[in-house]
Amino acid sequence: MSRLEQRLKDKTAVIGIVGLGYVGLPLAVAFAQAGSKVLGFDIQQKRVDLVNKGQSYIVDIDSESLSPAVAKNLLEATTDQSRLKEVDAICICVPTPLTKTKEPDLSAVTYQAEEISKYLQPGQLVVLESTTYPGTTNGVVLQILERSGLKGGQDFHLAYSPERIDPGSKNYNMRNTPKVVGGIDSQSTKLAELLYRQVADVVVPVSCPEVAEMTKIFENVFRSVNIALVNELTLLCEKMGISVWEVIDAAASKPFGYMPFYPGPGIGGHCIPLDPYYLANKAREYDFHTRFIELASDINEQMPYYVASRIMEALNARGKSLNDARVLVLGVAYKKDVDDVRESPSLKLIQLLREKGADLSYHDPNIVNVVIPGGTLTSLELTDELLSTSDCVVIATDHSCYDYQNIVDKATLVFDARGATRKLKRNNIVKL
Ligand SMILES: NC(=O)c1ccc[n+]([C@@H]2O[C@H](COP(=O)([O-])OP(=O)(O)OC[C@H]3O[C@@H](n4cnc5c(N)ncnc54)[C@H](O)[C@@H]3O)[C@@H](O)[C@H]2O)c1
Repeated sequence: MSRLEQRLKDKTAVIGIVGLGYVGLPLAVAFAQAGSKVLGFDIQQKRVDLVNKGQSYIVDIDSESLSPAVAKNLLEATTDQSRLKEVDAICICVPTPLTKTKEPDLSAVTYQAEEISKYLQPGQLVVLESTTYPGTTNGVVLQILERSGLKGGQDFHLAYSPERIDPGSKNYNMRNTPKVVGGIDSQSTKLAELLYRQVADVVVPVSCPEVAEMTKIFENVFRSVNIALVNELTLLCEKMGISVWEVIDAAASKPFGYMPFYPGPGIGGHCIPLDPYYLANKAREYDFHTRFIELASDINEQMPYYVASRIMEALNARGKSLNDARVLVLGVAYKKDVDDVRESPSLKLIQLLREKGADLSYHDPNIVNVVIPGGTLTSLELTDELLSTSDCVVIATDHSCYDYQNIVDKATLVFDARGATRKLKRNNIVKL
């Protein structure tokens, strides 16, 4: 048995988590709660300081679960990458965004791989968690790590394991969500399996990193395509005078072969709007066009425009033009009960409505300010007066904390882009 295997088994291995964001911080806390010592790395001094004070800045991790780990010396954070030498296993959880022209931007991953290669120790295990196209681990990352002079599979171990976090979910957490792992060789897979068994009940080994990388993108493409399908159906249902929400609920009564997806003002977050492009882009190297992916992205990206035009029509039907109308947007997070505005369709919708002259304000329980083209908006206090003096209240994100009955009772006009009021019957509600 290798030294690392032994250390992982008896939980004496020190785990390094690089990138303490939505993925890395919960992972760091999970390892610490499982009894391992964790050293977290981030380039933002502010985040490092907050972690070391036991204060969380991620909605899914409350300070009550973070601070005991820090107090027991099981979790410490640093910006000093030379301390990578101190850890046995390194999980890379840095961002993988797109460039403005929607090309994969792997700069944080390559920067981090370069940093690790400077301090790489024989026997260490490196696991990439950031979402990326197949070939990143075994190509890009391995090549950079081997600049250390150490050889992958022989002197150090390398694997890919996608994060499957479902932000805001009450049902699924790290423990009950199976974790896929694929190493560059069987020993790397075995060590990655041992590592993640500390935090996940089920670990699913696959034959290589490429399978694990493709699995993650496939899961997100699956969502993107199905959301696009239901968004397209919504447009047709509106023309045919059929409630898409009733159709979805009725279809969901089928106990097999169907899974409900819901329409909305567009897709957001760090995954679904971005990850499919990683694959579409890579596919071009093989003279292959991922038509489903591109069609789905196209339909989903049109949704904020569609919702803006429906709001305009709804106001028009009440003798009011969008220009100068007081529009209150409820929810700017990309989905319910999270505090994340990355790629949020609400922001696009706000921008479009403002461009048409709307006097726009917003409320979100978790997001105090948003930066949009032309300035910064601040969340208003959600009062009955604000609801009743708005010409249109737009439910853009269906946060659980909203009292939807009160919203429809007080507002003159509600445009519901999320089906949050579908059980309520009032003629001031216009549904997507
Ligand atoms: N957020 C999600 O729901 C989710 C789910 C599954 C997968 N992912 C994937 O996980 C990865 C991370 O996403 P996230 O949402 O946690 O991002 P994030 O922006 O919340 O966090 C990334 C963190 O990494 C830090 N960072 C950036 N470059 C760094 C570097 N070189 N060294 C150390 N720290 C660095 C940033 O300061 C930040 O704190 C992405 O590839 C994303 O696609 C995200």
